[in-house]
Amino acid sequence: MNNFRLHNPTRIHFGKGQIEALTNEVPADAKILMTYGGGSIKKNGVYDQVLRALKGRNVLEFSGIEPNPTYETLMKAVEQVKTHKIDFLLAVGGGSVLDGTKFIAAAALWEGSDPWTILTGDAPVKKALPFGAVLTLPATGSEMNSGAVITKKATGDKLAFGSLVTFPLFSVLDPTTTFSLPPRQIGNGVVDAFVHIMEQYLTYPAQAAVQDRFSEGLLLTLIEEGPKTLANPNDYDSRANMMWAATMALNGLIGAGVPQDWTTHMIGHELTALYGLDHAQTLAIVLPSVMHILRKQKGAKIIQYGSRVWGINSGSESERIDQAIAKTRHFFESMQVPTTLKAYKIDSSAIPKILEGLKRHEMTAMGETGAVTLEVSAKILEACL
Ligand code: NZQ
Ligand code: ZN
Repeated sequence: MNNFRLHNPTRIHFGKGQIEALTNEVPADAKILMTYGGGSIKKNGVYDQVLRALKGRNVLEFSGIEPNPTYETLMKAVEQVKTHKIDFLLAVGGGSVLDGTKFIAAAALWEGSDPWTILTGDAPVKKALPFGAVLTLPATGSEMNSGAVITKKATGDKLAFGSLVTFPLFSVLDPTTTFSLPPRQIGNGVVDAFVHIMEQYLTYPAQAAVQDRFSEGLLLTLIEEGPKTLANPNDYDSRANMMWAATMALNGLIGAGVPQDWTTHMIGHELTALYGLDHAQTLAIVLPSVMHILRKQKGAKIIQYGSRVWGINSGSESERIDQAIAKTRHFFESMQVPTTLKAYKIDSSAIPKILEGLKRHEMTAMGETGAVTLEVSAKILEACL
């Protein structure tokens, strides 16, 4: 196991009725900007619950944060923050609203000339407005981590940033808020959380027994609970398990002290930037091919995954790896997330464009050993067709 330091300051309020916790969590004298997306929170009653908990407070609103939130939209919120001297942000929605709010929090106090440099990583983020979250879509882990992924529409860049000051102060996770998710977002959430676990797990054996067993337990939970949430949208226990699994998948715990490989996410971000695919759709396409092309390098862990998660215990090593990949692909498909580029009507002409994006973003030595060069990415993409 590698050395590590782990600190996660986000308080979690989990369970039915927990939106009420906002009354005590949000400072009484705060000038609040409530941020949200395209309106799902108005249809499912979350908006009303939030305003009830904040009755009598000074609350302004910023709506219209889109899936894969854009710099262009978020800078309008930054303007609003400055004009109205907002001092607290409350994100209500899915990962895009939470990520967007992290950017607003950082950009509002940014002292450099161009806030886009927050994403290019040229200068670290040292200050951000305090913010909390009410999560309505379990998937990204953004409710308990400090990361955010922002898209610049003008240039087609989708980039991530993170900083010690962009953890939510608190997050409310009420599984009943997820009852209204359409099947597409349920499937997306399961796949995104699944791939977060895989990218912190599927590298080489690191003698990290706790992290491995936690990861395998989370994967098994998603495999058991994901289909239940699709079949019975109002099953509280499945929703609760799904929600907590997705949070645990990317809150720092399972990734502490182990090698990681974010190749699937990095290629996926280029696909979303170019073709507008949902984040999880890109992951469902890329992960099986990453497993296939890197089967030698990742063989020991793929076999461990196959055995402990899927019960694959016979056959040659190569056969077991093939079976583990097939099970993974089949699981994503069963969650109604297609796993080939063709299924999204994307052909081989996309490959040079994606490689160009990876090159521009200096993603030329990815993976746990830096072995994923552009040539290897090209092979991965060919296997995605
Ligand atoms: O905008 P509204 O109307 O709210 O509708 C949203 C949106 O259309 C809808 N939705 C959310 N909660 C709902 C609901 N519909 C009905 N009932 C509810 N309870 O779902 C749609 C998708 O929402 P979005 O927030 O975009 O989805 P998700 O949570 O999957 O977030 C995806 C974004 O997170 C980034 C992705 O790149 C992508 O931009 N990621 C962030 C990470 C992080 N911060 O750590 C890590 C991830 O790897 C990921 O990259
Ligand atoms: Zn993700």
